Amino acid sequence: MRIGWVQNRPLPGNREDNLAQVEALIGTHRADLWVLPELFATGYLMADRQALARLAEPLSDGPTPAFLQELAARRECAFVAGVALADRGGLYNAAVAVDASGLRAVYRKVHLFDTERRVFDPGEGPYPVVDLAGARVGIMICFDWRFPEAARALALGGAQVIAHPSNLVLPHCQTAMVTRALENRVFTVTANRVGSEVLGGMSAVFTGASRIVDPEGRVLSDGPEDDIAVDVVEVDPTRADDKAINASNDLFADRRPGAYTARRA
Ligand code: ACM
Repeated sequence: MRIGWVQNRPLPGNREDNLAQVEALIGTHRADLWVLPELFATGYLMADRQALARLAEPLSDGPTPAFLQELAARRECAFVAGVALADRGGLYNAAVAVDASGLRAVYRKVHLFDTERRVFDPGEGPYPVVDLAGARVGIMICFDWRFPEAARALALGGAQVIAHPSNLVLPHCQTAMVTRALENRVFTVTANRVGSEVLGGMSAVFTGASRIVDPEGRVLSDGPEDDIAVDVVEVDPTRADDKAINASNDLFADRRPGAYTARRA
């Protein structure tokens, strides 16, 4: 299976150009599964909830899911991509899984970061694991990396590949994803963006360095920190089904959930 990331530099509020930029970046590259950044079609900072409401899309006939489905059909691939979502009467920082047959899964971001809390409604989980492009693909978004429970829940739910659309601004995530992959013995695909945004009193500088890590914690792909880019690697997702650490230790069988509490001694 070929999995890839696209690292874009979206123009805030300019969906048409942002979709075209992603299609141009993919170009003639071929992958079975593409992971695109968080909010890749809209940009990240939202002036207020009204501004977000103008950009947020419904699942049924939103232009971004429709673009992804059309491209998936034409290029025989699947996508996990960040989208500003208007549904269930709320506004969500979401990720959709889409293939040629249409929408396969949606995840609404559980851990909202900083200014996101002013405009987005938090998702409630559960974290989805979906059969997509020949693998069991789990979905989490950006700041979820800082909560190891998210990746753990996906791995315990059977994910072989964790798709991680991101707009990273904090240091350490790319390094931490080595640990998330290793501690769960899964593949991780972090698709980050580059560039910066300034809006009102807010500003954000995005760190690029999109990354794919394998179940042994090896970095298979690393993007540049400050330029748009794309990369694809070949992986065998079934390697993530083997949770053995050595001949006598198994990452999942050896877990001791009953012991995972603390008491002040
Ligand atoms: C983030 O969660 N976009 C920092």
